[in-house]
Amino acid sequence: MTQPRPEVLQKLTPVLTKRWLSPDAWQIGVYERLDGYLALRKALDVHPDDLIQLVKDSGLRGRGGAGFPTGLKWGFIPQGDGKPHYLVINADEGEPGTCKDLPLMTYDPHSLIEGAIIASYAIRADRAFIYIRGEAVHAARRLRHAVQEAYAKGYLGKNILGSGFDLDLVVHSGAGAYICGEETALLDSLEGFRGQPRLRPPFPAIAGLYASPTVVNNVGTIASVPYIVLGGADWWKSMGTEKSSGPMIYSLSGRVVNPGQYECGLGITLRELIELAGGMQPGHNLKFWTPGGSSTPLLTAEHIDTPMDFEGVAAAGSILGTTAMQIFSDQDCPVYNTWRWLEFYHHESCGKCTPCREGNYWMVRTYRRILAGHGTVADLDTLQDTADNIFGRSFCGLGDGAATPVVSTLKWFRDDYLGYIEGRTAPRLSEKSLVGA
Ligand code: NAI
Ligand code: SF4
Repeated sequence: MTQPRPEVLQKLTPVLTKRWLSPDAWQIGVYERLDGYLALRKALDVHPDDLIQLVKDSGLRGRGGAGFPTGLKWGFIPQGDGKPHYLVINADEGEPGTCKDLPLMTYDPHSLIEGAIIASYAIRADRAFIYIRGEAVHAARRLRHAVQEAYAKGYLGKNILGSGFDLDLVVHSGAGAYICGEETALLDSLEGFRGQPRLRPPFPAIAGLYASPTVVNNVGTIASVPYIVLGGADWWKSMGTEKSSGPMIYSLSGRVVNPGQYECGLGITLRELIELAGGMQPGHNLKFWTPGGSSTPLLTAEHIDTPMDFEGVAAAGSILGTTAMQIFSDQDCPVYNTWRWLEFYHHESCGKCTPCREGNYWMVRTYRRILAGHGTVADLDTLQDTADNIFGRSFCGLGDGAATPVVSTLKWFRDDYLGYIEGRTAPRLSEKSLVGA
């Protein structure tokens, strides 16, 4: 393992992760001793419109993957419309490789609850929901415990801290469907229907939960809010870059010595992050990587100095996404890994639209054929054509996400495909996997 150089070590900026190593910070007494709920007290003395302006000034952008400006989204909620308003926190973290919300909810659930109360106050919502992924049983238990503690201390319920503001917060567990992380499918699921995406527009800000104005924000976005309230917009902007402000939790997995979460200002490079993670595993050289989960175009070793902010990754031809950086080496096969992702997308496709439902079905079968040593060069054209007909023609982002690693690996690693087709690479799948192919 290589030790990070001091100048790289300095780039760690624990803000949202700062309590993760404090024993029992998930309990309200410990959280309060570590400055917990101070931001709420401050926020309740501020006019809701000024809070929205503060978040706008901070430049906070959504941490769920799309990077939409948070203050702008809050400002879309119509005021004085006589309708109920809702805050829905998307905790259905499911993008392959992504693991930032789950530890946050496990180790520091009150920071999310505090952020939820402040955000609800700002958008004038009196009911908020945390929609958590079904498999995240332990984190859901922690959250429910924390919600009970917050009610008991008067941070939730009627007349919070004597302010006159009321809020009920409900933790709702999904049933383990990736598509329910898509915001409108999530809303359908929360309403008790089968989770399938709705047509947008209207966006949830206008017609969301029960057709009422709804802010849907990611866990990391909402958990950032108390820090912005306490530290101010300028402090927040002092981390990150001009257009991508603040700290970000990067999840590194794969061929690094110390996989895990590293919180740094937006704009740090992959080279520096790998250094923080102890370097590449011995005997492994970087070959390809995902900047923000498997739905984002793959990048290669030549992109190692890409600044990991929204603009820097876009300039390199990809998307920052969820900052789930899966690191693959020269000992990993891009064709095999693309097949594994595709099996996931095929399984998780909700079936609502034809390009995604049928296209993934056929792509999975083509990959199995190639990996079992029965592929042809014509299969590569078919894969490209199928991916092109899924991307941009599917009803929601899942279709685009599925086509993305296919297009990337055909672009960067065609020779790895040809290796299986020409018999230079030993088959990775058995004949059995061709049943039904
Ligand atoms: P999007 O760009 O369509 O929307 C982002 C947010 O901005 C949404 O909340 C949307 O309602 C809002 N918005 C956009 N335009 C608006 C307008 N004109 N008026 C009002 N609100 C507006 O992105 P989308 O499809 O919601 O999310 C895609 C991202 O999700 C991908 O970049 C991917 O990285 C990420 N993702 C994250 C996962 C996770 O586990 N965290 C799983 C899968 C994908
Ligand atoms: Fe469902 Fe896939 Fe179509 Fe999205 S793209 S609506 S997941 S079938």
